[in-house]
Amino acid sequence: MSTKTPKGNAATGPSTIWGGRFAAGPSSLMEDINASIGFDKRLYAHDIAGSKAHARMLAAQGIISQDDATAIVDGLASIEAEIENGTFEFSAALEDIHMNVENRLAELIGEAAGRLHTARSRNDQVATDLRLWLRDAMDGLDAGVQGLQETLIGIAEAHSGTVMPGYTHLQAAQPVTLGHHMLAYVEMFGRDRGRLADARTRMNESPLGSAALAGTSFPIDRDATAAALGFDGVTRNSLDAVSDRDFAVEFLAAGSLLAVHLSRMAEEIVLWSSGQFGFVKISDSFSSGSSIMPQKRNPDAAELVRGKSGRVIGALNSLLVQLKGLPLAYGKDMQEDKEPVFDAADTLAICVAAMNGMLAEATFDAARMKDAAGHGFTTATDLADWLVRVPGLPFRQAHHVTGQLVKLAEDKDCGLEDLSLADMQAVEAAITDDVFSVLGLDESVASRTSAGGTAPENVKKAAAQARKRCL
Ligand code: ARG
Repeated sequence: MSTKTPKGNAATGPSTIWGGRFAAGPSSLMEDINASIGFDKRLYAHDIAGSKAHARMLAAQGIISQDDATAIVDGLASIEAEIENGTFEFSAALEDIHMNVENRLAELIGEAAGRLHTARSRNDQVATDLRLWLRDAMDGLDAGVQGLQETLIGIAEAHSGTVMPGYTHLQAAQPVTLGHHMLAYVEMFGRDRGRLADARTRMNESPLGSAALAGTSFPIDRDATAAALGFDGVTRNSLDAVSDRDFAVEFLAAGSLLAVHLSRMAEEIVLWSSGQFGFVKISDSFSSGSSIMPQKRNPDAAELVRGKSGRVIGALNSLLVQLKGLPLAYGKDMQEDKEPVFDAADTLAICVAAMNGMLAEATFDAARMKDAAGHGFTTATDLADWLVRVPGLPFRQAHHVTGQLVKLAEDKDCGLEDLSLADMQAVEAAITDDVFSVLGLDESVASRTSAGGTAPENVKKAAAQARKRCL
């Protein structure tokens, strides 16, 4: 990046934009700590959109001439093209994206450029830009999470009847279906999307026209700029509007929970793809080998999704700490809001995409999952339920009897279904041959038809409903 000092011209004054009041330029250390152009250049498109809307409004209100507004809008369009084709020269001496754009505008159109900042401050400008940028980022993220849900729903449909162990304490607990397990994540990601949508609604108010902190004496039309920029309305208090970063915190909070959900899922993929579980095979394109152990096939993408959740959670923490001691209204501390927001948005986007790609190409080993589901007496609850339903034992007693039968099977080193009827009757005389009908894995999952339960017929319906609701 160039560190050229801005050229003096009519619009910008002698050395810096505030050169009128300052005799000396900044020390180079000051420039280093102060410059944000290295990262806030990402706001360029939104900054330019905001400036165009502002210039048009100023002209419509008779605050600047129509000719000046046209020159400003055309000049801004050229600048946008220069940035996009890589010919724009960013300058750290010009601090941030706002002043880089304004300075270039002055080079291009001369004096009229100096009228753009009428009735505006960088404080309302940056608050507007960041809202606009985040709104787009959130819309993109929502689409990404929706795509991930679509993949999960597809797996659920294909595996509505595929039996796997359901776990509590990471101990096989009861058989469930893979489809049901996938739909659990569809629920989580649905809540994430709801939180993002909720944050978006609150965020979508225009701070533009709040000026530095107190509003302006010019007869601006804030509703016009808000409408031009797609905001639902305008913020109601100028002090709040320039100092508020709640919208960024809300994005990072919703994003952190999304990252946690992605991380939990990633952890399951790591476990499931291990030799011990062997439930899933990650495709070559989402695995990596080892430089020393030729047999290895590592679930790196899943591990990175799990690891990167820390960056998003860190970003939330960073912004909260930045804000907590700030008096109203704007403080330069707030320039530190952007890097965590950008990093979290980038991280979430890549994690959602990688998770989606990984799952779309993953192959599940149904036989292996079913085999695992059969170990650990996972139909013990079905046996206890049978004792309640058929001979009518109280559940507590049924639980006790079942415990004795599990103990017996453990001693004999066999499954519950391998015990003889005589063995069972020795523990509880009321048991009949009918009991064996509930000890199978398929029978077990098929019986879980309560609302929200794992039965394949439930999963099929739930997947169809999720398709309608989420996609
Ligand atoms: N680059 C600044 C930021 O990101 C823009 C606002 C500067 N305002 C000011 N009064 N210095 O926060």
